[in-house]
Amino acid sequence: MNKNLIKKKYKKKIELLTYYNRKYFNDNISEISDLEFDNLKREIIELEKRYDFLKSENSPQLIVGYKPSKNFKKALHRAPMLSLSNAFSEADLDNFEKKILNYLDKKKDFKIEYSVEPKIDGISASLNFKKGKFIYGLSRGDGKEGEDITSNLKTISDIPKKISYKDFPEDIDIRGEVFIQNSDFKKLKAKFANPRNAASGSLRQKDPKDTKKIPLKFIAYTFGFEKGMKLKSQSEFLKKLDQWGFKINPLNKVITGTKNLISNYKEIEKKRNSIDFDIDGIVYKVNNFEMQKRLGNVSNAPRWAIAHKFSANSGISKIIDIDIQVGRTGALTPVAKIEPVNIGGVLVSNATLHNEDEITRKDIRINDEVVVERAGDVIPHIISVNLEKRETNAKKFIFPDKCPSCGSKTVKDFNSLTKKEDAVRRCSSEGFECEKVSIEKIKHFVSKEAFNIEGFGKKIVEKFWNIKLVRLPQDIFNLDFEKIKNLDGWGNQSTNNLKYSIDEKREVSLEKFIYSLGIRHIGLENAKLISKYLKNSRNFVKIGERKNYLDLLNIDGIGETQINSIKNFFSNKTNIIVLEQLNKILKIRDSIEFKKDGLLANKTFMLTGKLENMSRAEAKSLIEKNSGTIISNVSKKLDYLIIGSKPTKRKIIQAKELKIKILNQNNWLLMLNKRS
Ligand code: IVH
Repeated sequence: MNKNLIKKKYKKKIELLTYYNRKYFNDNISEISDLEFDNLKREIIELEKRYDFLKSENSPQLIVGYKPSKNFKKALHRAPMLSLSNAFSEADLDNFEKKILNYLDKKKDFKIEYSVEPKIDGISASLNFKKGKFIYGLSRGDGKEGEDITSNLKTISDIPKKISYKDFPEDIDIRGEVFIQNSDFKKLKAKFANPRNAASGSLRQKDPKDTKKIPLKFIAYTFGFEKGMKLKSQSEFLKKLDQWGFKINPLNKVITGTKNLISNYKEIEKKRNSIDFDIDGIVYKVNNFEMQKRLGNVSNAPRWAIAHKFSANSGISKIIDIDIQVGRTGALTPVAKIEPVNIGGVLVSNATLHNEDEITRKDIRINDEVVVERAGDVIPHIISVNLEKRETNAKKFIFPDKCPSCGSKTVKDFNSLTKKEDAVRRCSSEGFECEKVSIEKIKHFVSKEAFNIEGFGKKIVEKFWNIKLVRLPQDIFNLDFEKIKNLDGWGNQSTNNLKYSIDEKREVSLEKFIYSLGIRHIGLENAKLISKYLKNSRNFVKIGERKNYLDLLNIDGIGETQINSIKNFFSNKTNIIVLEQLNKILKIRDSIEFKKDGLLANKTFMLTGKLENMSRAEAKSLIEKNSGTIISNVSKKLDYLIIGSKPTKRKIIQAKELKIKILNQNNWLLMLNKRS
């Protein structure tokens, strides 16, 4: 390739990278996956390495932490920075304890006390303090020799720079983990593959000013060399660290017995995705320092500690087929059928491919070997394709141009705001003409947030559809219960229950009614706004009859997208019939103006956790009925945080920091003179 061509190719890649960065930081849009972004960066860096005439101020080498380590002076650790051996199973753990008991010549029933500490997945650092002053800090390096990253560590506010407590050892290396919180990582996602890379990259910046830009945290958990420390156990040490002004892990515990270690492990693993930092396991350390000393080390790991690792959340599998699912709004969602693979104890055989663009971008093909990720409650998805394993005759996946359910043409909307085509392809037969769309619409109609018909779940909708009991929402209120009674698995009792829960819902608020219709872009909030404005269901029907959709533009929050969608809804004959029928069958309550001088006037509330005998929706409406306002963030604007059971801890901490009043359900109801 000639020089000009290389320059051109390089320039193009740099432009692309700058574009993705700008998109991410200015518009909050990730147009490509982390992996693809990383690949692009790598390609640029490789070109720069190969051709020294390639230079750009936007090079990823200049923007983020790809600094070679020769930027830093090396220094020896006064005590080696050890690593930990790993336990992956309960058996490994039992074995670990057995070995300790043997070594210490203790009986089987001897109870060992452990300091139990979630293992943060970050970068370890060793900080030297002399006479309470932070002197220098080293990275782990090879455990014997690390890099002097003092000036970068000094930018971290969690690291105390001067400690004046009398009991602070006169010379000590405090060790811990430098990391970045997941919430902060979100803002940097376009630049780094994961929080650990972000922490490592920024910690190794040449210019500490660049490190300072990234909100790094530090949690302390051990020490290296020390002179003048008089403590007896790890848990005492952790407590002292806290008093001396270091941050320690809030989930640290002291536990005895491997059974209890395991139940704690399971509990934390469940919480893992709701914690604001990545943890990849739990560290168990024999709590007593005397015992630790006796136990000593094996090669580069202590005998007295082990890391109980969490199971991986990704696995390798093969795509057997690609299914196209049709959703309520006609969106076609491709789903990969994969060879079943065990990921973190769950057998995964489906992975979402999101939309047509995602398949094109990742060039995913049937028979490809892929990496599948499953994290928390998120639907499993494909991370990457192993191109080396691709069969030479593998064909590109052609997205269907006809709806697999009704055969209508599939279309992609043009978004007038972004001036781009939607990533999602849809079935063009808006509404009840498409079987799959109809089924999904009915599922939506009976769902919790809509009519909330108890006992009428997704499976029942499908069953009733298959035996032609329901075709349109109004059919739900005209069900043939004699027929249902005789169905397999049904009887008098369950039929009566269903009848009762349907009858209970013959009266509905206007906003729920509008929401239940499942009009695209009209979610709960918009339905509420429309119902407040239109006041009663006659006015809603009139909008369609008189085609005066633009009148809805008077509503703050309703725009062109919503108006077009409502227009579409009314232009469909079946929808008009559904509306007419439902209006006949149901009692649709007018929207009521909430009084402005209620007991909670001028007060703002936020809810967290589960309330007793009351749904979230009911609590919200109770607040609004009494002139209170619901807000969705903890901020200075918030007056009261109402907490139920299992609240989000972060919200409580934030509320406490801002000195916001915290109420339990009873205290809150007392404000309404409701309960004592
Ligand atoms: S103790 C003496 N405690 O895990 C044992 N390490 O594989 C070594 N880590 O390099 C350190 N949380 O980066 C210890 N509470 C904790 C830890 C922890 C995370 C990391 C640390 C270390 C690696 C060992």
